[in-house]
Amino acid sequence: MDWLIRYHQELKCLLIVLMLGILHCQGVKVSFAPLNLEMFNDSYQQRLSVRWSVSENAYLSGSDIIFHAQVGRDTQMNIIRNETYISKYSDAENQFTWFWDSDVPLECYTHFVRIRGAPAGDELPEWSPWSQWKAHYGKENLRAKPYIFPHEKIVQEGTSVNFCCIPGKNQKVAKFFWKTWYDAPANSNGTFDFTVHNVSSTKAGGANVICTTTNGIHITMRGTVLFVTKPPDEPTNMSCETQDLKTLICSWNPGKKSNLDEDLAPNYKLHEWFSKKTKLCSRSECTWPIQKNQNIYNFTLVAKNQLGMKSVSILVDATQRVHPLAPTGLELQYINATNAKFRWTLKADYTGLLLLCQTELQMNNHHVEWRNITVMGKAPTSFYTIALDRLQPYTNYTMTLRCMAATHLSTWSDWSEQLELRTHEDVPTAQLDIWREVKSSENGRTVTLYWRPFSEIYATGYIVFYNVTWRRLYDQTKYQSRVVHPPQNTTQLSIDRQAYVIHITAQNGAGISPPSEIRIPNDDEIRDNGQIKEGRVNGKDGGIYVSWKPHPANYHGYVVEWCNFPKSQHCDLQWKKFNSSVASDVIKSGAFNPGVRYTFRIFGSNEEGEHFLEKKSGYIQELACSMRMRITIDGIQADMLHLTWDPYQRYTCQEGFITHYRIYLKSPEGNCQMKGSTELPLTDGKSVCMISINDTEKKSFSINPLKPNTKYEIAMAASTGGGESPLEFTKVTTQPDTAAVIIAIALPVIIVSIMLLQLLLLGYWKRQWVKNMCYPDIPDPNKSNVLSFPTLKEHEEKVMVPRNCVVQKIEIVNQQKVEEVEEVQLSQAQSKEIEKLSCRSEENDCANVSSSLDDMNSAGLLYQTFDDPINRTQPSIYLEFFNRNYCGTPEDAFEILTSQGYQPQREIQPTVMPK
Ligand SMILES: *[C@@H]1O[C@H](CO)[C@@H](O)[C@H](O)[C@H]1NC(C)=O
Ligand SMILES: *[C@@H]1O[C@H](CO)[C@@H](O)[C@H](O)[C@H]1NC(C)=O
Ligand SMILES: *[C@@H]1O[C@H](CO)[C@@H](O)[C@H](O)[C@H]1NC(C)=O
Ligand SMILES: *[C@@H]1O[C@H](CO)[C@@H](O)[C@H](O)[C@H]1NC(C)=O
Ligand SMILES: *[C@@H]1O[C@H](CO)[C@@H](O)[C@H](O)[C@H]1NC(C)=O
Ligand SMILES: *[C@@H]1O[C@H](CO)[C@@H](O)[C@H](O)[C@H]1NC(C)=O
Ligand SMILES: *[C@@H]1O[C@H](CO)[C@@H](O)[C@H](O)[C@H]1NC(C)=O
Repeated sequence: MDWLIRYHQELKCLLIVLMLGILHCQGVKVSFAPLNLEMFNDSYQQRLSVRWSVSENAYLSGSDIIFHAQVGRDTQMNIIRNETYISKYSDAENQFTWFWDSDVPLECYTHFVRIRGAPAGDELPEWSPWSQWKAHYGKENLRAKPYIFPHEKIVQEGTSVNFCCIPGKNQKVAKFFWKTWYDAPANSNGTFDFTVHNVSSTKAGGANVICTTTNGIHITMRGTVLFVTKPPDEPTNMSCETQDLKTLICSWNPGKKSNLDEDLAPNYKLHEWFSKKTKLCSRSECTWPIQKNQNIYNFTLVAKNQLGMKSVSILVDATQRVHPLAPTGLELQYINATNAKFRWTLKADYTGLLLLCQTELQMNNHHVEWRNITVMGKAPTSFYTIALDRLQPYTNYTMTLRCMAATHLSTWSDWSEQLELRTHEDVPTAQLDIWREVKSSENGRTVTLYWRPFSEIYATGYIVFYNVTWRRLYDQTKYQSRVVHPPQNTTQLSIDRQAYVIHITAQNGAGISPPSEIRIPNDDEIRDNGQIKEGRVNGKDGGIYVSWKPHPANYHGYVVEWCNFPKSQHCDLQWKKFNSSVASDVIKSGAFNPGVRYTFRIFGSNEEGEHFLEKKSGYIQELACSMRMRITIDGIQADMLHLTWDPYQRYTCQEGFITHYRIYLKSPEGNCQMKGSTELPLTDGKSVCMISINDTEKKSFSINPLKPNTKYEIAMAASTGGGESPLEFTKVTTQPDTAAVIIAIALPVIIVSIMLLQLLLLGYWKRQWVKNMCYPDIPDPNKSNVLSFPTLKEHEEKVMVPRNCVVQKIEIVNQQKVEEVEEVQLSQAQSKEIEKLSCRSEENDCANVSSSLDDMNSAGLLYQTFDDPINRTQPSIYLEFFNRNYCGTPEDAFEILTSQGYQPQREIQPTVMPK
């Protein structure tokens, strides 16, 4: 054993080395395999949590370990999840947890989980062996009875939800229901899942989801409820205040009401951070007791449901956020004409708090006035008082009151109840506004006095009577007086022609008003005698603008007087007083109407009284005359119509000042040629003539030139600033033109007569010559000078050039085409003339014709006009002089024209005429 003792040291060393080696080897083979694997389920969340540890001291504390987890589903062990997960290792807390959220309810299938581990950081981790599969059993294999999962789930709008139906023993799923029924596939066997997509908000009680299962004979039904909602809205406008300084009342706007019943709707909890207290609240309000030693409160309000939570925080100073209670027991303590005193209570202890109170005074139910006062807070049993001055005498008031703490975050209390009160009467301080109208009467003058009752503001009491006193201006000793009771506001006095002074006072229960004075100048001073010309005034700004010539040296003021109802017997005399610096005003009255003429009389005031200065009239707005103008047509001629109209028409038009007249004339042709007229188109395409007459004094007018024997329609309108009066057309027909008719009938008769006379005279005077010409002693018409033909070649046109008889008057006729020739381009009238002159008729004899021709020769004027037609038609004209059997032949004519000699009884061949 010596060697053993001797090598003890060495052995010892070897052992240590060996042990270290073993220890080292043990360290290298450290396993990251999960130990103590546990699994938990959260059925509602469809979540599996897995918890495990690793072997202790296996690894350096603070280093990362990577785990690989797999989830298998069903007995086929399909891997449905494959995830790595890195976690820090710590000696102290050797525990790892991994969650997995299932897409289908955990009850639907059996799930298996296994995990392995490795040190993190390696590119190819050296994995530990897998843990054993840990199973979480579903109900799919139980099949004792049918199931449907998930059970009563609450989900968010728009999500998708997976359901599964597990049939009972020997059953299969037949149908399922979500909003409507669906058939399960025929080959469905065992667990059946289906998904509903994009679910929408349900009713408060949720929506049913149902499966039916069948064993071929019986049908079984299984149902569940799905709730679809939203996370809570964020509460807005949260505020806290105290009414009594004992509790804080916090309120907020919770947003839209939940679609689900109260137990599933969001709940509201108020947390206070200083006291660390939490309180469950109603949907929109919470009360919080105020602690004696705590003024500041740090609140967080949390609204929460199964889908989420929202929170808001506020910091509240309870002494700042005071919303006092409404004042109570408001009562009147004292009142006179202008002052009143009230008291009230506040049913909370505001001791130490400065209160600002506001009174609202409503006067006679319309005018409202607010007044502020400050009071010190008191114990709930004490009275607060307030005194109000500057009230209107004899006025009904409705008073109410509210208060707030004099801090900037305080809010007004509600209004107290209303208190009705009436101030006492007071002596009137205002003078009556008075005016007068003076008229001469048989034995002096009549003065009508008018006054305006005090307006509400100045009526400091009930007016019992008006006291009217009057006396001569320069005789102070004698005066008369008269009492007038309201509501009368006028009285009539008879005075002589001296200057007078009149006073009027108003008496109420408290006293007499200061007197109003008006002076009536002596009779000579009154000069409203029609010498004053009436001026015109115009509407402006809804009233009538009246101006006058200022005489500031003579008068200390002016009065404008008018009638509100000038057409009515009770004209309602009105007046307005001005000081001497004013020379114009827009007079307004609610009684003014458009189309009514108002007359304003302007008076100047001096110490003798009022003197009439000017008179003006006008309209707030002129209208068109409503009356049609009546016209009289008192002169009808062929080319002219003479109209007159009532010269007083302008006074019967009440609606405006007539500025001009207009005459409208419709003629059948619908056009308009008169000088100074304007043509206005009518809708029917015709037009009407408009003649303006700018002289409104004019009373008559002649319209010309017109056409004779024509039907015209005439109307007349008066124009004012408001437009034209309505039109009424009168029909009138102009005279026929007698002179023209006479001329038309008489002239041809006269001309014919003269011509006949001339013919007769000529015939007589030249009878020897005619005789020679037409039937000489040896009658040979060919010898006649009348028949002188130009040289004719064969097949050429023959032209006769008469010599003594005027050529143009002879009709040249184609022998074969007599009819044609007759039509040669002559107007009917011309042809007729020619017929008359060219004795071509079979019956005519030459004597007749020749004399006729001769006549025409001397009456050169008449047939001059026929030159042209004949000349123009010459080429196509052929001659047959009279009757060829009787007077001669064309050949004769040829001979005559060639020889220019007299060759009686020669025949002219008709054949020379070209076809
Ligand atoms: C889930 O866990 C609960 C207990 O938390 C248990 O009663 C239930 O049976 C479990 N569900 C399944 C499917 O294992
Ligand atoms: C699981 O994931 C690992 C690594 O991420 C991969 O190597 C493996 O092939 C996956 N297995 C399955 C079954 O998806
Ligand atoms: C919040 O309060 C303010 C003022 O009091 C108001 O104008 C606003 O409409 C309120 N908002 C909501 C969401 O109630
Ligand atoms: C109120 O509480 C919140 C939450 O604790 C905190 O963040 C905040 O600073 C507090 N405010 C005050 C003024 O103390
Ligand atoms: C009364 O007090 C309120 C609140 O301070 C203020 O808005 C108002 O102008 C005051 N009224 C008068 C008449 O002073
Ligand atoms: C006077 O009284 C009558 C009748 O009440 C009223 O129509 C008229 O306007 C009053 N006149 C004045 C000037 O107030
Ligand atoms: C009206 O006034 C006159 C003059 O001041 C006075 O003498 C008279 O007594 C008064 N009448 C009444 C009824 O007060």
